[in-house]
Amino acid sequence: MAGKRQIKFGAIIHGVGGNISGWRHPKVLTNSSVNLNFYTQQAQKAEEGKFDLVFIADGLFINEKSIPHFLNRFEPITILSALAALTSKIGLVGTVSTSYSEPFTIARQFASLDHISNGRAGWNVVTTPLENTALNYNKTVDEHPDHAKRYRIAEEYLEVATGLWDSWDDDAFVGDKENDQFFDPSKLHQLNHQGEFFSVQGPLNIGRTKQGQPVIFQAGSSEAGKRLAAKDADAIFTMAKTLQEAQGFYQDVKEQVKTFGRNPDEVVILPGISPIIGDTEEEAERKYEELANLVSIERALAYLGRYFDHHDFSQYPLDEAFPDLGDIGANSFRSHTDRIKREAIEQKLTLRQIALREATPRTQFIGTPDKIADLVQLWFEERGADGFIIAATLPDALDNFVDKVVPILQQRGIYREDYEADTLRGNLGLPFKQSRYIKQTV
Ligand SMILES: Cc1cc2nc3c(=O)[nH]c(=O)nc-3n(C[C@H](O)[C@H](O)[C@H](O)COP(=O)(O)O)c2cc1C
Repeated sequence: MAGKRQIKFGAIIHGVGGNISGWRHPKVLTNSSVNLNFYTQQAQKAEEGKFDLVFIADGLFINEKSIPHFLNRFEPITILSALAALTSKIGLVGTVSTSYSEPFTIARQFASLDHISNGRAGWNVVTTPLENTALNYNKTVDEHPDHAKRYRIAEEYLEVATGLWDSWDDDAFVGDKENDQFFDPSKLHQLNHQGEFFSVQGPLNIGRTKQGQPVIFQAGSSEAGKRLAAKDADAIFTMAKTLQEAQGFYQDVKEQVKTFGRNPDEVVILPGISPIIGDTEEEAERKYEELANLVSIERALAYLGRYFDHHDFSQYPLDEAFPDLGDIGANSFRSHTDRIKREAIEQKLTLRQIALREATPRTQFIGTPDKIADLVQLWFEERGADGFIIAATLPDALDNFVDKVVPILQQRGIYREDYEADTLRGNLGLPFKQSRYIKQTV
């Protein structure tokens, strides 16, 4: 098996669901987003399916229009620490914002999670699009850093965090009782970082981990987001509606990875998909309709508004052309809002059409297990993806995927029968992360 490229899978655990009205589905427990049993069941199911990772997304500002899952949910590192004790092989990845946290604290927390889980931690680095987040962090909305600045902060933040993770060499804690030497002082490094945004002395008060350092994920798809990913990320979450779009992103990022002197095979690209699986095409369609019918137009408008910094779309006529929004959204979820604006013009869509299809996206990944497996294989082999991050929009979607699609992919020899490694890096096919201080002497 060595050398043969294998598909990677992650599962977003999204409590009551990523769909704005999915919580109303008869099979959904309304407290799922704060229900440890639900998170445990999902993580263990993903581990049964030999997934590389589970992923806990996050944001730091809500209002009454936010999707239900956002209103009442677990903080990522906390729930991942619990899941670390309830799983043994699967990677544990969580979002933390570089615009609203301190590198010393976050480096320490992810290093702790990495130790607790024996080398399975990953950090999805986001820069926080929603400007009102400032109001929860002793700032005014005007002080929310703009898009370009957020990415400059993120870049320096990562320099600090990864520097702190190398505070101690792998074998620094010698524990020599006889000679009263807990650590070897020559293996301790003080960071002394002084930059534009951060001033951090170090060292970090926790050592390196089984995989060297936690795995860095990045999910921004704007030019600045892709650049940061190409420079610093080990893995990338993205969204693509078609194979061509996925291939464009894949090629672009892998090329950029090379310009930073990195090996493109050591950056894993994972588009998000929400498969809806039925034993027949009709059953899958019925499941999609069941979900779509839960969403009212009012809810769909509110959902759409969130991407545009909670813009109020109820002021526009529903069945006329999508309104001209000028710059609204440019400082928020930029790649997403740019795409909506572009598609509205290109495809001559009304506000109602845009809102409903954003609220319940109808992707290609709807159908029988064989059809889903074919699509997954096609995207993988045609270099649109190295794997996928699966967002279950229906309560049994992850179970269906693991029980029905995974065995087909295993039979085809493109997906693992068992974990190759016991660290997240190892399973993702990434090498152990060497300390920068070791590298210097090689
Ligand atoms: C699979 C996936 C997961 C994401 N998870 C988060 C998240 O947890 N928190 C967040 O603020 N943004 C998340 N994003 C959005 C991006 O991280 C990013 O914030 C957004 O795309 C804006 O950045 P950009 O302008 O560089 O695209 C996610 C995107 C994708 C595709």
